[in-house]
Parts: sequence; C-alpha cells; structure tokens
Amino acid sequence: MSGGPLEFLALAALRREQAAAIGATLTGMDPWRTLGYQAETLARGLESTHPDLIRYLAARDGEPQGLVVVRHPWLRGAYIELFAVLPPAQGRGLGRVALELIESRYHRRTANLWLLVSGFNNGARCFYEKQGFHLVGVIADLVVAGQDEVLMRKVIRPAVGVP
Ligand SMILES: CC(C)(COP(=O)(O)OP(=O)(O)OC[C@H]1O[C@@H](n2cnc3c(N)ncnc32)[C@H](O)[C@@H]1OP(=O)(O)O)[C@@H](O)C(=O)NCCC(=O)NCCS
Repeated sequence: MSGGPLEFLALAALRREQAAAIGATLTGMDPWRTLGYQAETLARGLESTHPDLIRYLAARDGEPQGLVVVRHPWLRGAYIELFAVLPPAQGRGLGRVALELIESRYHRRTANLWLLVSGFNNGARCFYEKQGFHLVGVIADLVVAGQDEVLMRKVIRPAVGVP
C-alpha cells in the first residue's frame, strides 16, 4: 500500500456523506450485493448512533480503506457486526491488522469475539479461520430466505469456574 500511514478512527457514527459513500460501495460488494442490501439502509445504519456501537474507520490520507462495526457488550463478548476492507485495499494485510486492533481494544473487557459470515462467503470464512475464529453453528434463513449465516467465535479468555 502506498501513501501516508494507516489511521483507525473510533467513531460513534459516520458523517452523512461518508455513510452514503460507504453504503453505496458495500452494495456493490459481496456479501451485501448477494444479500440484496440497499445503499440507503446501510447508510442510515452507519450514520445513526447507539450506545453499544462503535465504528472503526480505517483511512489513509483521509480516504476510507475499510470499516469495522463492533457491538459491545454482546454474549459475554463483543460482536463484529460489519467487517469490510474496501476493494482497492483488499489482500494487503489490512483485514488482519483491523482484527488485531479490535482484539487489543476489547481483550481486557471481553472473553469472546463473535461474528456472522454468510454461508457463500468462503473467502471471508477462510480469513476469519486464519485469525483464530471457529465455527459455532449455521443459522438458516437469518438475513435472507435461502441463505445461511455461519456464527463464528474467537475465545479471548476461556471461562473458568464460577462466573
Ligand atoms: C475478507 C476480508 C475482510 C479480508 O481482508 P483483507 O485485508 O483482504 O485480508 P488480509 O490481506 O489481511 O489477509 C489476511 C490473511 O487472510 C487470507 N485471506 C484474505 N482474504 C482471503 C480470501 N478471500 N480467501 C482466502 N484467504 C484469504 C490472506 O491470504 C492472509 O493470509 P496469510 O496471513 O496466510 O498471508 C476482505 O477481503 C473483505 O472485506 N472482503 C469483502 C467483504 C467481506 O467479505 N467481509 C466479511 C463479511 S463477514
């Protein structure tokens, strides 16, 4: 990757123009394209605030490179609700760096990282397995009828004894 250093901004919400631009980009990419997400729906979600949600925006020279949305707390851990490296930045280590950042941000306060990956998204599943996530189960028809979602977990701190 060329240009300036990679920055990660932890944001409560994206600015409206940024949310619209990223929403439009995601609808042209899998898994959102195959699942039939609308750009407006994604953009509305990204520009809204929620006390349990943080958006980590990866940027270089002010240009978005990727986005991770984390919900915490969730099921004795943190749930990665959205994970996207934008196409020009894919395959250059950003996904791995972003997951390492998320793990380092949450490891003191959480025992687990969770996420869902679409059943057809073999590439992302392979990526997550390389980063230490394991399959928990398959959930049919969760987002769209006829499509499975795969629940994955990375144990940060195993449960011990009495909670
Ligand atoms: C899947 C995704 C997050 C990976 O991020 P990335 O920045 O492209 O991946 P990295 O360059 O950090 O790769 C890290 C490792 O995962 C592997 N990997 C990455 N994408 C892979 C793929 N599609 N298939 C197989 N392995 C893959 C790399 O080979 C690399 O392995 P190594 O450590 O042995 O060299 C990214 O490509 C992406 O956003 N894709 C589209 C959206 C998506 O599917 N998001 C997940 C939704 S749940």
